[in-house]
Amino acid sequence: MIYLNGEYMPLAEARIPVLDRGFIFGDGVYEVIPVYSRRAFRLDEHLQRLQHSLDSIRLPNPYTPAQWQTIIEHVIMLNPWEDQSVYLQVTRGVAPRDHAFPKDTPQTVFVMSNPLTTPPARQRETGVSAVTALDNRWLRCDIKSTALLANVLLRQLAVDAGASETLLLREGYLTEGAASNIFVVRDGVLLAPPKDHRVLPGITYDVVLELAQQHAIRHEVREISEEEVRSADELWLTSSTKEVLPITRLDGQPVANGKPGPIYEVMYGYYQDFKRTVMRGKNT
Ligand code: PDD
Repeated sequence: MIYLNGEYMPLAEARIPVLDRGFIFGDGVYEVIPVYSRRAFRLDEHLQRLQHSLDSIRLPNPYTPAQWQTIIEHVIMLNPWEDQSVYLQVTRGVAPRDHAFPKDTPQTVFVMSNPLTTPPARQRETGVSAVTALDNRWLRCDIKSTALLANVLLRQLAVDAGASETLLLREGYLTEGAASNIFVVRDGVLLAPPKDHRVLPGITYDVVLELAQQHAIRHEVREISEEEVRSADELWLTSSTKEVLPITRLDGQPVANGKPGPIYEVMYGYYQDFKRTVMRGKNT
């Protein structure tokens, strides 16, 4: 079951006009929100990031946070899975094709949900492979835009190489993954690239840094050079659906000894504990 412009309906019945600017221009923004035991994880933070994306593309938010919460909770309730991945999208609506903004056009709002598929245990035990590529995206990667062509092409490079993710390098420095944020461990210090216009401000990224802070794991937010990535002790990727996942091969070479590292193991434990606390409703 999905939500489209004020109505709940089966996905197969949902229709949008072909002139929707999301279809014509990729003129829209989105969020992916993980749901554990029917509770949306970090909902306020996802809705704040949605607001940032909407403000950045000068599109008014059609709903208040309370209205969003009602719609999202309803979609969760209408679907059969305990753990879900809620996808929401807002576009600049339906109008004759013209790059300039249309006047007085209502936004298109779409919310769907899928079963949440987190990485299988085997991937956590062995880690995943990644490749590197030049980050050839635009300079507003902080906007969670549905215009994802560059990310699609970059991610496909990984798939073509039999790998899971593409790590992106801009002017010799790590930005993020094609669909994830990237962390580096060197000499016992967890390193993260700064949240600026070159990366998506990941919700999972924030959780990981908060957990590092809480548990006194040494960490630093700073520029990370390609050389530091290639000689890392540990590499991780983070996202709402993948949580925290170790990368153990990069461009065909093992990362350190080619096994998930000790700091990953403790962080993954903290992440699972934190999720359990959230599910008990003590924290969000
Ligand atoms: N992608 N960077 C990029 C480019 C992403 O697409 C994502 C997530 C992230 C991680 O953000 P978060 O921790 O808030 O999920 C970073 C989602 C899952 C997607 O497009 O499906």
